[in-house]
Amino acid sequence: MPLPITRPRRLRRTAALRTLVREARHESAQLILPIFVEEDVDEAQPIASMPGVFRVPERDLPRELESIARDGVRSVVLFGVSHNKDETGSDTLRADGLVARMVRAARDAVPDIVVFPDICFDEYTTHGHCGILRNGEVDNDATVQGLARQAVVAADAGAPIVAPSAMMDGQVAAIRTALDAAGHESVAIMSYSTKFASAFYGPFRAATGCDLQGDRLAYQMDPMNAREALRESVMDEAEGADILMVKPALPYLDVLARIRAETLLPLAAYQVSGEYAMIRFAAQAGALDEDRAIRETVGAIHRAGADIILTYFARTLARDGW
Ligand code: PBG
Repeated sequence: MPLPITRPRRLRRTAALRTLVREARHESAQLILPIFVEEDVDEAQPIASMPGVFRVPERDLPRELESIARDGVRSVVLFGVSHNKDETGSDTLRADGLVARMVRAARDAVPDIVVFPDICFDEYTTHGHCGILRNGEVDNDATVQGLARQAVVAADAGAPIVAPSAMMDGQVAAIRTALDAAGHESVAIMSYSTKFASAFYGPFRAATGCDLQGDRLAYQMDPMNAREALRESVMDEAEGADILMVKPALPYLDVLARIRAETLLPLAAYQVSGEYAMIRFAAQAGALDEDRAIRETVGAIHRAGADIILTYFARTLARDGW
C-alpha cells in the first residue's frame, strides 16, 4: 500500500501545533449570561431542573452583577420572576415595574455591563403566553403595541439594547418606531428572530414560574422549517434589527450556518435551559466530562456561525477560560 502524502495528523501532534491551526477561537466578550431575578424574596432560590442556577432575589442583583463582572462576564440578559402577574402583563409597562427596576439596578451597579432586558410577556401573564389573549389566541397586533411600550419603558430605564422574544409578526418594526419616537434612536434591538417552539425551553419555564396554559405552536416556529427560519431572520433585518438570533442553538446549527451566509449583521445563538440541563445531568450521572462538553458545544455553536452566544455557562467560561 502506498504511503499517504497528505497527513492531517502532522498538525495534531502537539498542543502548540493544534492551537496554532485552530479555526474557531473564543473569548468571554462574545458571551451573554442569562440571569433570573425574583422580586419579593429574601433568599436565592435553586432551580431543580437547572442544577447550579439560582433565581437571584431582586435586592441582591447589584451584588450578583458585581461578582459576575469580576469573573469577566460583560453582558447579561435579565428575566424577571414576577409576583405581580395579570392577564396582560401590565407590570412590564410600569416605570416602577420589575423590568424597569432590574435595568436601573444593573446600570447603577456595573455601568459598563451590557444589559439586555428580555422584551416579552410570558413571565408576567397569569396564562403564561407571550402576549395578550383574545378569544383564546394571542392577538398579534395588540401584543406588538404592548411590546413596543415595554421596550420604551426598558430604554427609559437605561437599557442600551432590548431583546424582543415574543415571535409576533412586525414586532421589530413597531419597537424601532416606538423607540425612535421616544428619543431612543440609539438604543439597539437584538431580535430573537428565529425562535423555534422547542422542548428545550422546559427548565426555563420552571425557572421563571411560567404556568403556560397550552403551547406556543401558534407563534413560535416549527422545528422542522429551515427555509422559514431564514425568512424570519431576513424579515427582522429589514424591520431594523441590529443583531439576529437563533434559538435554541445546538439542534439548529444548520440554520445558524444558513443565516450566517444570508446576512451581514451580527448573529447570536441561545444555548437554552434544556441544553444546559442535558449537559449538567449527564455529567452528574458520570456519562460525560462536563468541562469538555461545555467547550465543545459552545465552540461548535460559534464555529457554525454565531458571533455571540447566550449561555448559562458564560460565567464558568469567563472565569475558567476556554
Ligand atoms: C420568552 C423566553 C423563553 C426563553 C427565553 N425567552 C421561553 C419560551 O419561549 O417559552 C427560553 C430560554 C431558555 O430555555 O433558556 N420570554
